[in-house]
Amino acid sequence: MSLIFQTQQKCIAIFALLCCFGVLLALIFSSVDIWGDDEDGITEENCSKNCRIVLVENIPDDLSLSVDGRSHVPLSAGFHTLLDQAKHSVELVSPVWNLNSWDLETMPSTGQQGQLLFQRLLSLNSHGVKLKIASSLPNSAELKTLAAHNAEIHFVNMTALTRGGLRSSFWIVDRKHFYIGSADMDWRSLSRRKELGVVVYNCSCLALDLHRVFSFYWQLHERDYIPSIWSKRVTALYGTQNALELQLNATKATAYVSTSPELFCPKDRTRDVDAIHQVIQSAKTFVFISVTDYLPLVKRGFRGVSVTRYWSLIDEVIREAVVLRGLKVRLLISFWKKTHPLTFNFVTSLRSLCMQLHNCSLEVRFFSHRDHQDDIQHGLNHNKYMVTDNALYIGNHDWVGSDFALNAGVGLVITMKNNLNDRGVTILEHLKAAFDRDWRSHYAKSL
Ligand SMILES: *[C@@H]1O[C@H](CO)[C@@H](O)[C@H](O)[C@H]1NC(C)=O
Ligand SMILES: *[C@@H]1O[C@H](CO)[C@@H](O)[C@H](O)[C@H]1NC(C)=O
Ligand SMILES: *[C@@H]1O[C@H](CO)[C@@H](O)[C@H](O)[C@H]1NC(C)=O
Ligand SMILES: *[C@@H]1O[C@H](CO)[C@@H](O)[C@H](O)[C@H]1NC(C)=O
Ligand SMILES: *[C@@H]1O[C@H](CO)[C@@H](O)[C@H](O)[C@H]1NC(C)=O
Repeated sequence: MSLIFQTQQKCIAIFALLCCFGVLLALIFSSVDIWGDDEDGITEENCSKNCRIVLVENIPDDLSLSVDGRSHVPLSAGFHTLLDQAKHSVELVSPVWNLNSWDLETMPSTGQQGQLLFQRLLSLNSHGVKLKIASSLPNSAELKTLAAHNAEIHFVNMTALTRGGLRSSFWIVDRKHFYIGSADMDWRSLSRRKELGVVVYNCSCLALDLHRVFSFYWQLHERDYIPSIWSKRVTALYGTQNALELQLNATKATAYVSTSPELFCPKDRTRDVDAIHQVIQSAKTFVFISVTDYLPLVKRGFRGVSVTRYWSLIDEVIREAVVLRGLKVRLLISFWKKTHPLTFNFVTSLRSLCMQLHNCSLEVRFFSHRDHQDDIQHGLNHNKYMVTDNALYIGNHDWVGSDFALNAGVGLVITMKNNLNDRGVTILEHLKAAFDRDWRSHYAKSL
């Protein structure tokens, strides 16, 4: 009798255990589903790798830089061409929403491009194109207007997640074409600020990977924590170890997307700093860097007080490249109202490395335009890229420790199969020509 009773008890216990297990599994899978997002039927197997790439720049009218019409497409034209392609969706991330300048009466021409772009975004819905925006701005008037015109907007509370900001700036159109660069949805990006980025067409493989970064932000909508379980649909497809092999204007290349901060890198996603390391380490002869700010410091809040620390991750790899590998390094930094005073100390320290060394070359120049009292960003070189003899990195962050540690951003790494000058004109030549133009201009001055 007691034996039967015991067996019965065991059965019940096992049954209960199985139930628990089932519920747990269901929970895990449902959470995975919740964190997913559809990918429109494009998969890694049938996505397109035969891409076209165009360098897009905004050069303010009052900067006299000789611009080569063949390699240079104005940023506003690039944005409009991208929107021309849109049939289903436009996914957009920008740190700033300020396309409609308020001083339009005094300077009608400067704000025009921004307004035009805003009108274009407003009208997407009436053309059957869905506009999706991820943003960390809680009260933007422009986002409210866009939402009223059926744009879908997801708020990412970066304050709660990393105490940083969503500084990413990219567009994805129909999961096929995309833009990455320094410009954001500020009217200055289309008029007064010097911006640089790339537009890539017919490239659903890379667009798919960038879309996964977008999905990551999308799923953080109104959450104040980063989940520990992520759907497969936000993990990275490509990275340093398994870069995508593709054709860019019929030239063989490899590419991948990197992100920051580290907390925003789900499985297999390469961190921005690791991407920068890889690009510098694989350079053979030169590394040219153009950024608004260079500052190897990170400022973090710690128990209510802010603590500033030395952030060596990029500084050390530059030092190694210059001293131990004899690479020629050029650093073009902006000199403007917000240049941190310690920038000069860190830069001088870098330059002094070459003292008494043969074949050692590290040059620094500061890009500056005459001061405008009304707008400190007038004529600002807002570029954020690096070009080497075989690769390029275009990112959203300045090379400042705090940016990489706290703010969300993305980077694009492209490595050419053939070195510079070996074959035809590639995006590398275009980017290097843009760098040389700025470096030799009278706006770039040594210390
Ligand atoms: C790619 O493959 C998926 C599944 O194998 C399929 O559903 C989809 O229609 C395909 N897409 C294209 C563009 O061929
Ligand atoms: C974002 O999170 C912070 C900290 O958790 C909170 O104080 C703030 O109200 C949140 N912001 C919004 C707009 O929800
Ligand atoms: C993209 O591919 C389509 C179809 O192959 C082609 O018609 C179109 O011109 C391409 N777009 C660009 C910008 O190369
Ligand atoms: C130094 O530079 C010269 C000329 O560019 C070159 O011939 C030489 O091999 C270099 N030496 C080293 C140690 O790299
Ligand atoms: C790639 O092709 C497009 C379209 O033909 C052209 O506008 C662009 O300048 C080319 N890019 C490069 C880097 O040659």
